[in-house]
Amino acid sequence: MKRIRIFDTTLRDGEQSPGCSMNLSEKIEMARQLEALGVDVIEAGFAIASPMDHKSVKTIAAAVTNCTVASLARCTKGDIDAAWDAVKEAKHPRIHVFLATSDIHMEYKLKMTREQVLQRISEMVAYAKSFCEDIEFSAEDASRSDHAFLAQCYTNAVAAGATTLNVPDTVGYSTPQEMADLITYLKEHVAGIENTDISVHCHDDLGMAVANTLACIKAGATQVECTVNGIGERAGNASLEEIVMAIHTRRDFYDAETGINTRQIYRSSKLLSNITGVPIPPSKAIVGANAFAHESGIHQHGVISNAQTYEIMSSTDVGIPQNTMVLGKHSGKHALREKLISMGYELDDEALEAVFTRFKDLADKKKNITGSDIEALVLHRRNAFIGSCKLLGHVVNTGHGVPNTSYIKLQRGDEVLENVAIGSGPLDASFQAINQMLGLEDVRLESFSLNAVTDGEDAVGEAVVKLEAKDGETYTGTGLSTDIIESSIRAYVNGINKMMEAAN
Ligand code: KIV
Ligand code: ZN
Repeated sequence: MKRIRIFDTTLRDGEQSPGCSMNLSEKIEMARQLEALGVDVIEAGFAIASPMDHKSVKTIAAAVTNCTVASLARCTKGDIDAAWDAVKEAKHPRIHVFLATSDIHMEYKLKMTREQVLQRISEMVAYAKSFCEDIEFSAEDASRSDHAFLAQCYTNAVAAGATTLNVPDTVGYSTPQEMADLITYLKEHVAGIENTDISVHCHDDLGMAVANTLACIKAGATQVECTVNGIGERAGNASLEEIVMAIHTRRDFYDAETGINTRQIYRSSKLLSNITGVPIPPSKAIVGANAFAHESGIHQHGVISNAQTYEIMSSTDVGIPQNTMVLGKHSGKHALREKLISMGYELDDEALEAVFTRFKDLADKKKNITGSDIEALVLHRRNAFIGSCKLLGHVVNTGHGVPNTSYIKLQRGDEVLENVAIGSGPLDASFQAINQMLGLEDVRLESFSLNAVTDGEDAVGEAVVKLEAKDGETYTGTGLSTDIIESSIRAYVNGINKMMEAAN
């Protein structure tokens, strides 16, 4: 059986997409989860892009031991120097250099001739190789490049020391058959390709990123580039969970396997969504709320008789928490720890204590606490440690034909702050009260959403706010409570804490 390497670019191509930016600690947390998921390569960022990108690649390189850590670099010495400096402490470092090879990109973007591009590839791959053994070369817009020229580009890259050749469908233009044919063509026309990994990197502009990727596996690709939840430039990248579960479920067809621990898939997806505040669409394959739900009576009857009538994979294989076993008010720390372990979460004592405190609070308000509630508490525990401001209390007065007022009490370090404000609604009044007491001007509420974590009247509500600071940076805050006003205020305080942390 063929082993397919999973190259995860959630922290690079994924993070480039609007609304998906992450701060340093969030990137590290995500990188650790990707390691637990079992990806082979983490593309941690584009080191030259900014000092913060450089720092996050470097920190991830030091934090992760089981995966290769890659940094992206254009074909320039400056980019390659920055990439190498960022990944050199990694146990398994990789430099990923790229240059566009399609006529349209060479003419209008690079303003380079074919000869210049060929020469630059040879020189810069060799330069990268002088630092690092593991070199990936990507021909940007490969799928729209002249095939013979493309084969020559890859031949030069191999001769200069590339160990992985990546074939991107940068603009998501190709079809599965075309991508498979391209891989077959390159296998026949690139000298030395048999000694390299063949990789594919597909975008989803026409909704075919996963299909294109899988077609390439059939044609001989040994590495696939993808992101959790399919986040990425424009319509996104190929979704990791869909590729992995397709290979896993249709082993008979692909004759391939990955090193992914599929039971970590759901957790990775939820963590990313929680960090970025970008919700998982209900109908999203594998990880959407409806992915394993059976609504019609005929389906339900079939599944009760034999799950395989309508289920081609099991939700437990993906790590979706089962909501059958519940905890309640009288459950102790031990029961919570056991439940967490059964869900695959091994928390240290400090984290367990934080989750337990919130669990007890929740148990006072909600009769049955399900696996999804517990998962939400675990994901939100991060917020308890972020920033200097803590919500101590609030009173909101709202109604029709009367002013909406909100009283907010916050702790900032040793200080206790209080303020009352009037607003166009209860949340506006609360957010104004916070802004005024912290002296924050020009904070813009870019978006706000509220979702129920589970069903029922006493469901826990998860609020997500996106705040824009005056420098244009956006910060995502999340909050959790059975009271939706409280979860919204918590989300706002969490976003403000991140904003203030970044400013220091
Ligand atoms: O889409 C693309 O071509 C890329 C390359 C840099 C690999 O992201
Ligand atoms: Zn890309």
